[in-house]
Amino acid sequence: MQLQTKTIHAGVNKDTAYNSIITPIYQTSTFRFDDIGKTKGYDYTRTANPTRTALEENIAQLESGTCARVIASGMAAIAATLHFFKTGDHIISTNDCYGGTERLFRLYAEIFGFQISYVDMNNLDDIKKAVKTNTKAIWIETPSNPLLNIYDIRAISEIAHDNNALSIVDNTFLSPVNQRPLEFGADIVVHSTTKYLNGHSDVVGGAIVVSKPELAERLHYLINALGQGEAPFDAWLVLRGIKTLVPRMKAHEENAIAVARFLEKHPDVLKVNYPGLENHPQHELAKKQQYGFGGMLSFEVKGGIDKANNILRSTKLFSLAESLGGIESLICHPATMTHASMDKALKEKVGINERLIRLSVGIEDVNDLIKDLEYALNA
Ligand SMILES: Cc1ncc(COP(=O)(O)O)c(C=O)c1O
Repeated sequence: MQLQTKTIHAGVNKDTAYNSIITPIYQTSTFRFDDIGKTKGYDYTRTANPTRTALEENIAQLESGTCARVIASGMAAIAATLHFFKTGDHIISTNDCYGGTERLFRLYAEIFGFQISYVDMNNLDDIKKAVKTNTKAIWIETPSNPLLNIYDIRAISEIAHDNNALSIVDNTFLSPVNQRPLEFGADIVVHSTTKYLNGHSDVVGGAIVVSKPELAERLHYLINALGQGEAPFDAWLVLRGIKTLVPRMKAHEENAIAVARFLEKHPDVLKVNYPGLENHPQHELAKKQQYGFGGMLSFEVKGGIDKANNILRSTKLFSLAESLGGIESLICHPATMTHASMDKALKEKVGINERLIRLSVGIEDVNDLIKDLEYALNA
């Protein structure tokens, strides 16, 4: 099946009771046993639920994985993934990762004794130098949030494997339509399904996809033990959202490239970060490992925080809000919003400054979006 067909059919059509075309919402906490020790495959929703299974099979197929588990949020997906490791283990992370990821790493360093090193992953030698005898994973966020840096999944996964470590990719920004890290050698993919996979800004969720059966077994154990599996209704919403993922991603990208080209020509804009622009430093790498450039971009404005605030207050279609990946356009100020929790020194070091504005470009008419930005930039 081609990807677009999988988005609509993978994991669904299992209802033998009434042959419903759409997966039912099994809104139940528990399931009746047929006899002692005999079930129809489900006993308790914390462990597994048929609506959740449909979404898990769907996402596993989209990501070319062995198995997926869906969970209460993107952060829950990241937290559960960290439970593959133990006290004293060392993880090398992208230095410009999502602020919430850095906050969780810091928390787990404090309470569980994890060791985390932040590295500029454009420099493969720096990654190799950061490896220690207790390195157990390399955490790759590509494209990174909010700077849209692109990191080489295949090369970094090779470094991980040469050192008996796992390669883990946060694929939230691109979705499996535009990037499938397991095909490039990664072992685990995490998602905030809150974003593009659901796509309609009406649910919070996460997913973990693994490449190998032994990781799948551990993942299943962890989801049940931690008790964070996604609620059936939320899983159903994400499953519904995924059915339009392919056309949505195309529409997001078409709009994002037009917005990026408009911004790059505007005299008040210092710099545009969008991997689809030919002058993006990793444009060629993006073309190599991605099937599209996505709908996220960020830009720096001339005039510092006052100018940035003015723009953030002046857009009418771009709503000032956290999150991304929905059909509607959003604008945000990473330094004080999505990355407010990030360690200040790290934020400054990687370039998440006060001039930086992030856009999640929606699928409205692009002329309206450009007019909105033009008005805000000139306000
Ligand atoms: C790249 C990335 N990963 C993970 C998350 C966390 O997802 P959630 O908000 O669903 O917990 C986010 C949230 O913005 C994100 O941007």
